[in-house]
Amino acid sequence: MVLNLAVMVSGRGSNLEAIAQSIVDKRLDARIKLVIINNDEAKGIDVCKKYSLNYEIIEHKNLKRQDHEAKVIEKLKSHELNLIVLAGYMRVLTKDFLNSFKLDNCDLYPVINIHPSLLPAFPGSNAYEEAFNYGVKVSGITVHLVDEKVDNGLIIDQACFYRDNNDSLDDFKAKGLKVEHELYPKVLQDINKNGIYYQHKTYYLNQYI
Ligand code: GRF
Repeated sequence: MVLNLAVMVSGRGSNLEAIAQSIVDKRLDARIKLVIINNDEAKGIDVCKKYSLNYEIIEHKNLKRQDHEAKVIEKLKSHELNLIVLAGYMRVLTKDFLNSFKLDNCDLYPVINIHPSLLPAFPGSNAYEEAFNYGVKVSGITVHLVDEKVDNGLIIDQACFYRDNNDSLDDFKAKGLKVEHELYPKVLQDINKNGIYYQHKTYYLNQYI
């Protein structure tokens, strides 16, 4: 099966690039049907151009959350998608947004996120800084499904990295980002092939959302 993805990005877009490159390299059987960007200064736009990805900039500035989400939902619904991939999307999605994309016969949402800590440690938007300042010796990356709470849904996979005593925050982040770029495409391919295991059942993402 080929997974039809929408990727949502707010900034640099390095995970978007890792996913796009893994498709080019045939490590991931997927198509990026659409990239949603909520900020017209995002570097992720350059990634879209580099890989000739179909993208839409839907600025959230000056819009109520509900109105912004309505526009995003409308764009997403105009494509045949199996999964929505958050890759540094810095807006919390509301329950109404998630409910627009519920899977049949299952209380999971087909929305996935990558978070730069070993959840449930260090949720929120400063995970690298918080883990580093706490003094952890091992940290890692979590790929999880999204639910109504921040950085909270079903954990799909995690991978760790080690902090050396003389690592600066930049070294720590660079180690983590390398793990992110390996983990996210690998998890997407694993979901494609093996589905999502949840409450003693396997769910395949073979329906359009
Ligand atoms: C990554 O660290 C990711 O884990 C977090 O936001 C950052 C996005 O980076 N959710 P990029 O835009 O993919 O380069």
